[in-house]
Amino acid sequence: MNALTLVHEVVRTRVKAGDICIDATAGRGYDAAFLCELAGNGCVTAFDIQQEAIDSTRELLLSRNLEARLILDSHANMDAYFEEGSVSCILFNLGYLPRGDHKVYTHFESTREAIQKGLKLLKKGGLMCVSVYYGGDSGYEERDALLPYLRTLDDQKYQVVLASFYNWSNDPPIPIFIEKL
Ligand SMILES: C[S@@+](CC[C@H](N)C(=O)[O-])C[C@H]1O[C@@H](n2cnc3c(N)ncnc32)[C@H](O)[C@@H]1O
Repeated sequence: MNALTLVHEVVRTRVKAGDICIDATAGRGYDAAFLCELAGNGCVTAFDIQQEAIDSTRELLLSRNLEARLILDSHANMDAYFEEGSVSCILFNLGYLPRGDHKVYTHFESTREAIQKGLKLLKKGGLMCVSVYYGGDSGYEERDALLPYLRTLDDQKYQVVLASFYNWSNDPPIPIFIEKL
């Protein structure tokens, strides 16, 4: 089991054909493709701030005969594209583009804004998954700001579950599940 397969196992139990889903960090498109397979005739939208990521995601989807709306924009603007309470699942995979420029990565301020807006877009019972990757030269500041922020979410409205790779000695990823109650 790794962070990706854990998140996918949980998401698989929640997303069904016809659902509206968001991949907040398209990257190479693997999460977007996964969501497209689950949502079937629903609608998947993927955001990224890098053209390389959008192109890469488009290519992967094409090769698998899948379709998604791809948007070159920050996930912090996701509220411009959806109605409140309409979305079933939102995935964030924080960090930098694999095999891409390590200097372009997610930052706490825009991630927090996107999480706040995304939680409004989720319908009741909807799920947001945030996989926090850090290590090497980046990601520690985002992790250190994000975890205390998530503690402040109203427990009457949201349930926040963190998974821990408890015995890893080095920088384990942190899969986080936020359920809208
Ligand atoms: C770890 S990768 C995502 C991996 C992806 N989920 C996949 O399946 O391949 C993180 C991505 O977040 C993107 N990113 C960074 N800041 C962003 C922002 N504010 N809005 C949207 N995407 C952003 C990066 O360009 C990078 O492609």
